[in-house]
Amino acid sequence: LISHPFDMIVFGGRGDLARRKLIPALYHLDRERRLPDDGRIIAVSRGQMEKADFLRLMHDECVVHSPGDAIHGPFDEAAWERFAGRLHYISLDATDAASYRDLVAALQGRADVVRAFYLATAPDLFGPIAAHLKSLGLVTPESRLVLEKPLGKDLATAQAINAAVAAAFTEPQTYRIDHYLGKETVQNLMVLRFANALFEPLWNRTHIDHVQISVAETVGVGGRWTYYNESGALRDMVQNHLLQLVCLAAMEPPSTLDADMIRDEKLKVLRALHPIGVEDVAQSTVRGQYRAGTVEGNGVPGYLEETDSGAASNTETFVAIRIAIDNWRWAGVPFYVRTGKRLPARSSEIVVQFKTPPHSPYPASAGIIHPNKLVMRLQPDEGIRLVMLNKGRGPGELKLRQTALDLSFNETFGGRSPDAYERLLLDVIRGRPALFMRVDELEAAWQWIDRIREGWAETGLTPKPYAAGSWGPNAAIALIERDGRTWHEDDF
Ligand code: BG6
Repeated sequence: LISHPFDMIVFGGRGDLARRKLIPALYHLDRERRLPDDGRIIAVSRGQMEKADFLRLMHDECVVHSPGDAIHGPFDEAAWERFAGRLHYISLDATDAASYRDLVAALQGRADVVRAFYLATAPDLFGPIAAHLKSLGLVTPESRLVLEKPLGKDLATAQAINAAVAAAFTEPQTYRIDHYLGKETVQNLMVLRFANALFEPLWNRTHIDHVQISVAETVGVGGRWTYYNESGALRDMVQNHLLQLVCLAAMEPPSTLDADMIRDEKLKVLRALHPIGVEDVAQSTVRGQYRAGTVEGNGVPGYLEETDSGAASNTETFVAIRIAIDNWRWAGVPFYVRTGKRLPARSSEIVVQFKTPPHSPYPASAGIIHPNKLVMRLQPDEGIRLVMLNKGRGPGELKLRQTALDLSFNETFGGRSPDAYERLLLDVIRGRPALFMRVDELEAAWQWIDRIREGWAETGLTPKPYAAGSWGPNAAIALIERDGRTWHEDDF
Protein backbone atom coordinates (compact mmCIF):
# COMPACT_ATOMS: atom_id res chain seq x y z
CA LEU A 1 0.00 0.00 0.00
CA ILE A 2 1.43 3.37 -0.88
CA SER A 3 0.76 6.35 1.27
CA HIS A 4 -0.05 9.05 -1.23
CA PRO A 5 -3.68 10.17 -1.25
CA PHE A 6 -4.53 11.03 -4.83
CA ASP A 7 -7.09 12.13 -7.36
CA MET A 8 -6.55 10.71 -10.82
CA ILE A 9 -8.53 12.53 -13.45
CA VAL A 10 -8.75 10.59 -16.70
CA PHE A 11 -9.64 12.64 -19.76
CA GLY A 12 -10.97 10.31 -22.41
CA GLY A 13 -12.42 8.44 -19.46
CA ARG A 14 -14.74 6.30 -21.54
CA GLY A 15 -12.35 5.81 -24.42
CA ASP A 16 -10.62 2.72 -25.64
CA LEU A 17 -7.47 3.10 -23.54
CA ALA A 18 -9.35 3.85 -20.33
CA ARG A 19 -11.59 0.85 -20.83
CA ARG A 20 -9.02 -1.66 -21.95
CA LYS A 21 -6.02 -0.62 -19.89
CA LEU A 22 -6.31 2.17 -17.34
CA ILE A 23 -9.40 1.23 -15.35
CA PRO A 24 -8.58 -2.51 -15.33
CA ALA A 25 -5.00 -1.68 -14.22
CA LEU A 26 -6.28 0.46 -11.36
CA TYR A 27 -8.79 -2.23 -10.43
CA HIS A 28 -6.01 -4.84 -10.25
CA LEU A 29 -3.85 -2.54 -8.15
CA ASP A 30 -6.73 -1.94 -5.78
CA ARG A 31 -7.59 -5.60 -5.63
CA GLU A 32 -4.06 -6.27 -4.47
CA ARG A 33 -4.36 -3.42 -1.99
CA ARG A 34 -1.69 -1.33 -3.59
CA LEU A 35 -3.68 1.90 -3.72
CA PRO A 36 -4.05 4.20 -0.71
CA ASP A 37 -7.53 4.21 0.82
CA ASP A 38 -7.84 7.88 0.00
CA GLY A 39 -7.61 7.75 -3.77
CA ARG A 40 -10.26 8.72 -6.29
CA ILE A 41 -10.49 8.08 -10.00
CA ILE A 42 -12.49 10.63 -11.87
CA ALA A 43 -13.26 9.75 -15.46
CA VAL A 44 -14.17 12.74 -17.58
CA SER A 45 -15.57 12.62 -21.05
CA ARG A 46 -17.88 14.60 -23.28
CA GLY A 47 -20.99 12.44 -23.23
CA GLN A 48 -23.63 12.58 -20.51
CA MET A 49 -23.82 9.34 -18.61
CA GLU A 50 -25.45 8.17 -15.41
CA LYS A 51 -22.93 7.04 -12.85
CA ALA A 52 -24.61 3.64 -12.61
CA ASP A 53 -24.23 3.12 -16.35
CA PHE A 54 -20.60 4.16 -16.20
CA LEU A 55 -19.93 1.73 -13.37
CA ARG A 56 -21.64 -1.08 -15.23
CA LEU A 57 -19.56 -0.36 -18.34
CA MET A 58 -16.32 -0.38 -16.36
CA HIS A 59 -17.31 -3.46 -14.39
CA ASP A 60 -17.82 -5.37 -17.60
CA GLU A 61 -14.46 -4.18 -18.96
CA CYS A 62 -12.69 -5.27 -15.79
CA VAL A 63 -14.33 -8.68 -16.07
CA VAL A 64 -13.21 -9.02 -19.70
CA HIS A 65 -9.70 -7.90 -18.83
CA SER A 66 -9.30 -10.23 -15.88
CA PRO A 67 -7.76 -13.47 -17.02
CA GLY A 68 -9.76 -15.60 -14.57
CA ASP A 69 -7.06 -18.27 -14.57
CA ALA A 70 -5.48 -20.30 -11.80
CA ILE A 71 -3.24 -17.46 -10.67
CA HIS A 72 -5.84 -14.72 -10.69
CA GLY A 73 -8.84 -16.72 -9.60
CA PRO A 74 -12.32 -15.75 -10.69
CA PHE A 75 -13.34 -12.12 -10.94
CA ASP A 76 -13.46 -10.66 -7.45
CA GLU A 77 -16.84 -8.93 -7.11
CA ALA A 78 -16.12 -7.80 -3.57
CA ALA A 79 -12.91 -6.13 -4.70
CA TRP A 80 -14.85 -4.53 -7.53
CA GLU A 81 -17.43 -3.10 -5.11
CA ARG A 82 -14.65 -1.52 -3.08
CA PHE A 83 -12.97 -0.20 -6.20
CA ALA A 84 -16.22 1.18 -7.59
CA GLY A 85 -16.41 3.41 -4.53
CA ARG A 86 -13.41 5.28 -5.92
CA LEU A 87 -14.87 5.83 -9.36
CA HIS A 88 -16.59 9.00 -10.45
CA TYR A 89 -17.80 10.18 -13.80
CA ILE A 90 -17.99 13.80 -14.89
CA SER A 91 -19.17 14.97 -18.26
CA LEU A 92 -17.32 17.92 -19.74
CA ASP A 93 -16.22 19.31 -23.06
CA ALA A 94 -12.44 19.47 -22.84
CA THR A 95 -12.27 22.49 -25.14
CA ASP A 96 -14.77 24.60 -23.18
CA ALA A 97 -13.48 26.02 -19.88
CA ALA A 98 -17.00 26.75 -18.65
CA SER A 99 -17.87 23.08 -18.75
CA TYR A 100 -15.11 22.23 -16.22
CA ARG A 101 -17.40 23.49 -13.45
CA ASP A 102 -18.22 20.07 -12.02
CA LEU A 103 -14.59 19.01 -12.13
CA VAL A 104 -13.52 22.15 -10.28
CA ALA A 105 -16.14 21.45 -7.65
CA ALA A 106 -15.06 17.82 -7.30
CA LEU A 107 -11.44 18.82 -6.71
CA GLN A 108 -12.22 21.58 -4.27
CA GLY A 109 -10.57 21.25 -0.87
CA ARG A 110 -8.07 18.64 -2.06
CA ALA A 111 -5.25 20.85 -3.26
CA ASP A 112 -2.77 19.03 -1.06
CA VAL A 113 -3.25 15.53 -2.47
CA VAL A 114 -1.49 14.18 -5.54
CA ARG A 115 -3.47 15.26 -8.57
CA ALA A 116 -2.77 13.32 -11.73
CA PHE A 117 -4.37 14.49 -14.96
CA TYR A 118 -4.20 11.62 -17.40
CA LEU A 119 -4.83 12.73 -20.97
CA ALA A 120 -6.00 9.68 -22.87
CA THR A 121 -7.35 11.90 -25.61
CA ALA A 122 -6.38 12.96 -29.10
CA PRO A 123 -3.09 14.90 -28.90
CA ASP A 124 -4.59 18.08 -30.34
CA LEU A 125 -6.44 18.39 -27.03
CA PHE A 126 -3.29 18.21 -24.86
CA GLY A 127 -2.48 21.92 -25.19
CA PRO A 128 -6.05 23.20 -24.73
CA ILE A 129 -6.70 20.95 -21.71
CA ALA A 130 -3.43 21.97 -20.05
CA ALA A 131 -4.29 25.63 -20.61
CA HIS A 132 -7.78 25.26 -19.13
CA LEU A 133 -6.47 23.39 -16.10
CA LYS A 134 -4.04 26.20 -15.49
CA SER A 135 -6.47 29.07 -16.01
CA LEU A 136 -8.97 27.40 -13.68
CA GLY A 137 -6.31 27.18 -10.97
CA LEU A 138 -6.38 23.40 -10.92
CA VAL A 139 -2.62 22.94 -11.35
CA THR A 140 -1.31 22.55 -7.80
CA PRO A 141 2.32 21.87 -6.83
CA GLU A 142 1.32 18.23 -6.36
CA SER A 143 -0.16 17.99 -9.86
CA ARG A 144 1.10 15.78 -12.64
CA LEU A 145 0.17 15.63 -16.28
CA VAL A 146 0.28 12.24 -17.96
CA LEU A 147 0.41 12.23 -21.75
CA GLU A 148 -0.43 9.27 -23.93
CA LYS A 149 0.92 8.70 -27.40
CA PRO A 150 0.88 9.73 -30.14
CA LEU A 151 3.02 12.59 -28.87
CA GLY A 152 2.99 14.33 -32.20
CA LYS A 153 3.51 12.95 -35.65
CA ASP A 154 6.88 14.53 -36.29
CA LEU A 155 9.37 16.78 -34.52
CA ALA A 156 7.47 19.97 -35.27
CA THR A 157 4.13 18.73 -33.91
CA ALA A 158 5.84 17.14 -30.89
CA GLN A 159 7.54 20.45 -30.13
CA ALA A 160 4.24 22.27 -30.41
CA ILE A 161 2.62 19.87 -27.92
CA ASN A 162 5.57 20.13 -25.55
CA ALA A 163 5.53 23.91 -25.67
CA ALA A 164 1.78 24.04 -25.08
CA VAL A 165 1.84 21.77 -22.04
CA ALA A 166 4.99 23.46 -20.70
CA ALA A 167 2.98 26.66 -20.37
CA ALA A 168 0.95 24.97 -17.63
CA PHE A 169 3.08 22.15 -16.21
CA THR A 170 6.80 22.01 -15.46
CA GLU A 171 8.91 19.31 -17.08
CA PRO A 172 9.19 17.33 -13.80
CA GLN A 173 5.39 17.39 -13.61
CA THR A 174 5.05 15.99 -17.13
CA TYR A 175 4.88 12.20 -17.49
CA ARG A 176 5.08 10.97 -21.09
CA ILE A 177 3.97 7.37 -21.25
CA ASP A 178 5.72 4.72 -23.26
CA HIS A 179 4.01 1.65 -21.92
CA TYR A 180 6.91 -0.58 -23.01
CA LEU A 181 8.93 0.93 -20.18
CA GLY A 182 6.38 -0.47 -17.75
CA LYS A 183 6.83 -4.03 -18.95
CA GLU A 184 8.55 -6.26 -16.41
CA THR A 185 11.09 -7.67 -18.84
CA VAL A 186 12.00 -4.25 -20.16
CA GLN A 187 12.85 -3.09 -16.66
CA ASN A 188 14.68 -6.35 -16.17
CA LEU A 189 16.96 -5.50 -19.06
CA MET A 190 18.63 -2.92 -16.86
CA VAL A 191 18.80 -5.29 -13.90
CA LEU A 192 20.35 -7.96 -16.06
CA ARG A 193 22.96 -5.58 -17.39
CA PHE A 194 23.74 -3.53 -14.31
CA ALA A 195 23.16 -5.85 -11.35
CA ASN A 196 25.24 -8.71 -12.75
CA ALA A 197 28.97 -8.74 -13.30
CA LEU A 198 28.72 -11.32 -16.03
CA PHE A 199 27.36 -9.45 -19.01
CA GLU A 200 28.58 -5.88 -18.92
CA PRO A 201 32.27 -6.66 -19.62
CA LEU A 202 31.15 -8.41 -22.83
CA TRP A 203 28.56 -5.80 -23.77
CA ASN A 204 30.45 -4.00 -26.50
CA ARG A 205 31.90 -4.16 -29.98
CA THR A 206 34.73 -6.44 -28.96
CA HIS A 207 32.42 -9.30 -28.06
CA ILE A 208 29.02 -8.60 -29.58
CA ASP A 209 28.45 -9.23 -33.27
CA HIS A 210 25.05 -7.59 -33.52
CA VAL A 211 21.75 -7.05 -31.71
CA GLN A 212 18.24 -7.85 -32.95
CA ILE A 213 15.04 -6.39 -31.60
CA SER A 214 11.77 -7.82 -32.90
CA VAL A 215 8.28 -6.85 -31.84
CA ALA A 216 5.89 -9.06 -33.77
CA GLU A 217 2.13 -8.84 -33.49
CA THR A 218 -0.55 -11.12 -34.88
CA VAL A 219 -3.27 -8.47 -34.75
CA GLY A 220 -4.16 -6.32 -37.73
CA VAL A 221 -5.35 -2.75 -37.61
CA GLY A 222 -9.06 -3.32 -38.20
CA GLY A 223 -11.03 -0.91 -36.01
CA ARG A 224 -8.28 1.70 -35.75
CA TRP A 225 -7.43 2.01 -39.42
CA THR A 226 -7.98 5.75 -39.58
CA TYR A 227 -5.51 6.46 -36.79
CA TYR A 228 -3.07 3.86 -37.98
CA ASN A 229 -3.11 4.90 -41.60
CA GLU A 230 -1.96 8.37 -40.59
CA SER A 231 0.77 6.86 -38.48
CA GLY A 232 2.26 3.62 -39.80
CA ALA A 233 4.61 1.23 -38.04
CA LEU A 234 7.55 3.63 -37.96
CA ARG A 235 5.70 6.24 -35.95
CA ASP A 236 3.39 3.87 -34.08
CA MET A 237 6.06 1.47 -32.80
CA VAL A 238 9.62 2.45 -33.71
CA GLN A 239 9.66 6.10 -32.66
CA ASN A 240 8.71 5.11 -29.14
CA HIS A 241 8.79 1.45 -28.10
CA LEU A 242 11.59 0.10 -30.28
CA LEU A 243 13.88 3.07 -29.82
CA GLN A 244 13.38 2.84 -26.07
CA LEU A 245 14.43 -0.81 -26.24
CA VAL A 246 17.48 0.17 -28.28
CA CYS A 247 18.33 2.76 -25.63
CA LEU A 248 18.08 0.34 -22.74
CA ALA A 249 20.15 -2.26 -24.55
CA ALA A 250 22.81 0.20 -25.68
CA MET A 251 23.10 2.82 -22.95
CA GLU A 252 26.03 3.29 -20.58
CA PRO A 253 25.46 2.26 -16.95
CA PRO A 254 23.85 5.14 -15.05
CA SER A 255 25.56 5.83 -11.75
CA THR A 256 22.25 5.88 -9.86
CA LEU A 257 18.63 5.11 -10.68
CA ASP A 258 17.77 8.76 -10.46
CA ALA A 259 15.28 9.51 -13.25
CA ASP A 260 17.50 12.06 -14.94
CA MET A 261 20.60 9.89 -14.72
CA ILE A 262 18.81 7.17 -16.65
CA ARG A 263 17.28 9.57 -19.12
CA ASP A 264 20.60 11.32 -19.71
CA GLU A 265 22.12 7.99 -20.73
CA LYS A 266 19.21 7.10 -23.01
CA LEU A 267 19.42 10.51 -24.62
CA LYS A 268 23.09 9.95 -25.44
CA VAL A 269 22.14 6.81 -27.35
CA LEU A 270 19.40 8.61 -29.27
CA ARG A 271 21.84 11.33 -30.21
CA ALA A 272 24.38 8.75 -31.34
CA LEU A 273 21.98 6.97 -33.73
CA HIS A 274 23.51 7.24 -37.14
CA PRO A 275 21.09 9.29 -39.23
CA ILE A 276 19.37 7.40 -42.02
CA GLY A 277 18.20 9.65 -44.81
CA VAL A 278 17.62 9.92 -48.48
CA GLU A 279 21.05 8.49 -49.35
CA ASP A 280 20.59 5.22 -47.46
CA VAL A 281 16.90 4.54 -46.69
CA ALA A 282 16.77 2.02 -49.49
CA GLN A 283 19.75 0.14 -48.04
CA SER A 284 18.92 0.42 -44.37
CA THR A 285 15.12 0.21 -44.15
CA VAL A 286 12.32 -2.03 -45.40
CA ARG A 287 8.65 -1.14 -45.42
CA GLY A 288 5.86 -3.67 -45.78
CA GLN A 289 2.07 -3.78 -45.89
CA TYR A 290 0.08 -6.92 -45.21
CA ARG A 291 -2.15 -8.63 -47.70
CA ALA A 292 -4.75 -11.27 -46.94
CA GLY A 293 -3.37 -14.46 -45.44
CA THR A 294 -3.60 -16.88 -42.56
CA VAL A 295 -2.59 -16.05 -39.02
CA GLU A 296 -2.66 -18.76 -36.37
CA GLY A 297 -4.91 -20.86 -38.58
CA ASN A 298 -7.45 -18.14 -39.34
CA GLY A 299 -7.94 -16.42 -42.67
CA VAL A 300 -7.58 -12.66 -42.30
CA PRO A 301 -8.14 -9.76 -44.70
CA GLY A 302 -5.41 -7.55 -46.11
CA TYR A 303 -4.69 -4.03 -44.88
CA LEU A 304 -6.77 -2.49 -47.65
CA GLU A 305 -9.69 -4.84 -47.01
CA GLU A 306 -10.16 -4.10 -43.32
CA THR A 307 -13.76 -3.02 -42.73
CA ASP A 308 -12.80 0.58 -41.93
CA SER A 309 -10.08 0.86 -44.57
CA GLY A 310 -9.66 3.18 -47.50
CA ALA A 311 -9.08 1.95 -51.02
CA ALA A 312 -5.40 2.79 -51.35
CA SER A 313 -2.61 3.58 -48.94
CA ASN A 314 1.15 3.75 -48.76
CA THR A 315 1.24 3.29 -45.00
CA GLU A 316 3.59 0.61 -43.72
CA THR A 317 2.36 -2.07 -41.31
CA PHE A 318 5.84 -3.57 -41.11
CA VAL A 319 9.22 -1.96 -40.87
CA ALA A 320 12.74 -3.29 -40.51
CA ILE A 321 15.75 -1.05 -39.99
CA ARG A 322 19.45 -1.58 -39.73
CA ILE A 323 20.59 0.90 -37.10
CA ALA A 324 24.17 1.97 -36.48
CA ILE A 325 25.18 3.67 -33.25
CA ASP A 326 28.04 6.10 -33.60
CA ASN A 327 30.00 5.70 -30.40
CA TRP A 328 32.98 3.76 -29.06
CA ARG A 329 30.96 0.97 -27.52
CA TRP A 330 28.92 0.16 -30.59
CA ALA A 331 30.92 1.21 -33.65
CA GLY A 332 30.50 -1.53 -36.24
CA VAL A 333 27.76 -3.39 -34.29
CA PRO A 334 24.44 -3.15 -36.14
CA PHE A 335 21.13 -3.17 -34.29
CA TYR A 336 18.51 -4.78 -36.54
CA VAL A 337 14.99 -3.87 -35.49
CA ARG A 338 11.72 -5.01 -36.98
CA THR A 339 8.08 -4.78 -36.07
CA GLY A 340 4.87 -5.58 -37.85
CA LYS A 341 1.21 -6.42 -37.74
CA ARG A 342 -0.19 -9.76 -38.88
CA LEU A 343 3.03 -11.65 -38.35
CA PRO A 344 2.92 -15.38 -37.55
CA ALA A 345 3.20 -15.04 -33.76
CA ARG A 346 2.92 -12.48 -31.01
CA SER A 347 6.46 -12.38 -29.83
CA SER A 348 8.83 -9.68 -28.75
CA GLU A 349 12.44 -10.26 -28.03
CA ILE A 350 15.86 -8.74 -27.86
CA VAL A 351 18.65 -10.98 -29.10
CA VAL A 352 22.27 -10.19 -28.38
CA GLN A 353 24.45 -12.28 -30.64
CA PHE A 354 28.05 -12.64 -29.56
CA LYS A 355 30.98 -13.11 -31.91
CA THR A 356 32.00 -16.58 -33.00
CA PRO A 357 35.10 -17.89 -31.25
CA PRO A 358 38.25 -16.71 -33.03
CA HIS A 359 39.53 -20.24 -33.51
CA SER A 360 37.98 -23.70 -33.36
CA PRO A 361 39.98 -26.81 -32.53
CA TYR A 362 37.04 -29.01 -33.61
CA PRO A 363 36.86 -30.76 -36.97
CA ALA A 364 34.12 -29.74 -39.40
CA SER A 365 32.42 -33.09 -38.73
CA ALA A 366 31.70 -31.93 -35.14
CA GLY A 367 29.25 -29.41 -36.53
CA ILE A 368 28.98 -25.69 -36.98
CA ILE A 369 30.32 -23.35 -34.33
CA HIS A 370 27.15 -21.37 -33.71
CA PRO A 371 27.68 -18.10 -31.88
CA ASN A 372 26.35 -17.56 -28.36
CA LYS A 373 23.14 -15.65 -28.05
CA LEU A 374 21.41 -14.02 -25.14
CA VAL A 375 17.70 -13.90 -25.87
CA MET A 376 15.50 -11.70 -23.73
CA ARG A 377 11.84 -12.56 -24.31
CA LEU A 378 9.57 -9.65 -23.54
CA GLN A 379 6.33 -11.43 -24.43
CA PRO A 380 4.76 -13.89 -24.29
CA ASP A 381 6.31 -16.22 -21.74
CA GLU A 382 8.77 -13.67 -20.39
CA GLY A 383 12.21 -14.98 -19.77
CA ILE A 384 15.89 -15.18 -20.61
CA ARG A 385 17.62 -17.77 -22.76
CA LEU A 386 21.35 -18.14 -23.09
CA VAL A 387 22.24 -20.17 -26.16
CA MET A 388 25.55 -22.01 -26.18
CA LEU A 389 27.28 -25.07 -27.55
CA ASN A 390 27.75 -28.23 -25.54
CA LYS A 391 29.02 -31.67 -26.34
CA GLY A 392 26.29 -34.02 -27.49
CA ARG A 393 26.17 -37.07 -25.22
CA GLY A 394 27.80 -40.35 -26.19
CA PRO A 395 31.09 -42.03 -26.88
CA GLY A 396 30.77 -41.77 -30.68
CA GLU A 397 32.17 -39.06 -32.83
CA LEU A 398 32.19 -35.71 -31.04
CA LYS A 399 29.24 -33.52 -31.91
CA LEU A 400 28.74 -29.92 -30.89
CA ARG A 401 25.13 -29.33 -29.87
CA GLN A 402 23.32 -26.02 -29.57
CA THR A 403 21.64 -25.90 -26.16
CA ALA A 404 20.12 -23.23 -23.97
CA LEU A 405 19.95 -22.18 -20.37
CA ASP A 406 16.36 -21.15 -20.12
CA LEU A 407 14.83 -19.03 -17.42
CA SER A 408 11.08 -18.60 -17.46
CA PHE A 409 9.89 -15.79 -15.20
CA ASN A 410 6.56 -17.51 -14.71
CA GLU A 411 8.19 -20.64 -13.42
CA THR A 412 10.79 -18.82 -11.38
CA PHE A 413 8.77 -16.07 -9.79
CA GLY A 414 5.27 -17.53 -10.02
CA GLY A 415 2.42 -15.15 -9.39
CA ARG A 416 0.99 -12.76 -11.86
CA SER A 417 2.92 -10.61 -14.29
CA PRO A 418 1.34 -7.20 -13.89
CA ASP A 419 0.28 -5.19 -16.90
CA ALA A 420 2.69 -2.39 -17.82
CA TYR A 421 0.09 0.22 -16.95
CA GLU A 422 -0.13 -0.95 -13.35
CA ARG A 423 3.48 -0.11 -12.73
CA LEU A 424 3.31 3.18 -14.60
CA LEU A 425 0.13 4.39 -12.90
CA LEU A 426 1.63 3.66 -9.50
CA ASP A 427 4.77 5.53 -10.49
CA VAL A 428 2.69 8.54 -11.45
CA ILE A 429 0.97 8.52 -8.07
CA ARG A 430 4.28 8.02 -6.28
CA GLY A 431 5.97 10.76 -8.31
CA ARG A 432 8.62 8.59 -9.94
CA PRO A 433 9.35 9.74 -13.47
CA ALA A 434 12.22 7.38 -14.36
CA LEU A 435 10.06 5.21 -16.63
CA PHE A 436 8.65 8.16 -18.56
CA MET A 437 10.15 10.00 -21.50
CA ARG A 438 11.74 13.36 -21.00
CA VAL A 439 11.13 16.11 -23.53
CA ASP A 440 14.62 15.96 -25.04
CA GLU A 441 14.44 12.18 -25.50
CA LEU A 442 11.16 12.49 -27.32
CA GLU A 443 12.46 15.20 -29.60
CA ALA A 444 15.72 13.39 -30.37
CA ALA A 445 13.71 10.30 -31.33
CA TRP A 446 11.46 12.31 -33.63
CA GLN A 447 14.39 13.97 -35.29
CA TRP A 448 15.86 10.62 -36.26
CA ILE A 449 12.48 9.26 -37.39
CA ASP A 450 11.63 12.34 -39.45
CA ARG A 451 14.74 11.92 -41.50
CA ILE A 452 13.79 8.38 -42.42
CA ARG A 453 10.32 9.51 -43.43
CA GLU A 454 11.73 12.30 -45.53
CA GLY A 455 14.03 9.77 -47.15
CA TRP A 456 11.07 7.54 -47.95
CA ALA A 457 9.16 10.44 -49.42
CA GLU A 458 12.05 11.67 -51.52
CA THR A 459 13.07 8.30 -52.85
CA GLY A 460 9.50 7.09 -53.33
CA LEU A 461 10.15 3.99 -51.21
CA THR A 462 6.71 2.43 -50.84
CA PRO A 463 5.76 -0.61 -48.72
CA LYS A 464 6.25 -4.04 -50.22
CA PRO A 465 3.34 -6.44 -49.85
CA TYR A 466 3.61 -9.43 -47.51
CA ALA A 467 1.12 -12.16 -46.81
CA ALA A 468 -0.51 -11.99 -43.39
CA GLY A 469 1.07 -14.76 -41.35
CA SER A 470 4.54 -14.35 -42.89
CA TRP A 471 7.55 -12.63 -41.35
CA GLY A 472 7.19 -9.55 -43.55
CA PRO A 473 8.48 -8.90 -47.04
CA ASN A 474 11.45 -10.87 -48.35
CA ALA A 475 13.39 -7.65 -48.42
CA ALA A 476 13.48 -7.76 -44.60
CA ILE A 477 15.27 -11.08 -44.78
CA ALA A 478 17.60 -9.71 -47.44
CA LEU A 479 18.34 -6.69 -45.22
CA ILE A 480 20.07 -8.83 -42.63
CA GLU A 481 21.34 -11.58 -44.95
CA ARG A 482 23.23 -9.01 -46.99
CA ASP A 483 25.40 -8.61 -43.91
CA GLY A 484 25.90 -12.38 -43.63
CA ARG A 485 23.46 -12.69 -40.70
CA THR A 486 19.98 -14.10 -40.17
CA TRP A 487 16.96 -13.23 -38.05
CA HIS A 488 16.94 -15.29 -34.89
CA GLU A 489 14.69 -18.33 -34.78
CA ASP A 490 14.52 -20.82 -31.99
CA ASP A 491 15.16 -23.69 -34.31
CA PHE A 492 16.86 -26.34 -32.26
C1 BG6 B 1 0.77 0.54 -29.10
C2 BG6 B 1 0.54 0.64 -30.58
O1 BG6 B 1 1.54 1.62 -28.65
O2 BG6 B 1 1.44 -0.67 -28.80
C3 BG6 B 1 -0.23 -0.54 -31.09
O3 BG6 B 1 -0.17 1.83 -30.89
C4 BG6 B 1 0.43 -1.83 -30.66
O4 BG6 B 1 -0.34 -0.50 -32.50
C5 BG6 B 1 0.72 -1.83 -29.17
O5 BG6 B 1 -0.45 -2.90 -30.98
C6 BG6 B 1 1.54 -3.05 -28.77
O6 BG6 B 1 1.62 -3.12 -27.38
P1 BG6 B 1 1.80 -4.52 -26.65
O7 BG6 B 1 1.92 -4.15 -25.21
O8 BG6 B 1 0.59 -5.32 -26.96
O9 BG6 B 1 3.05 -5.13 -27.21
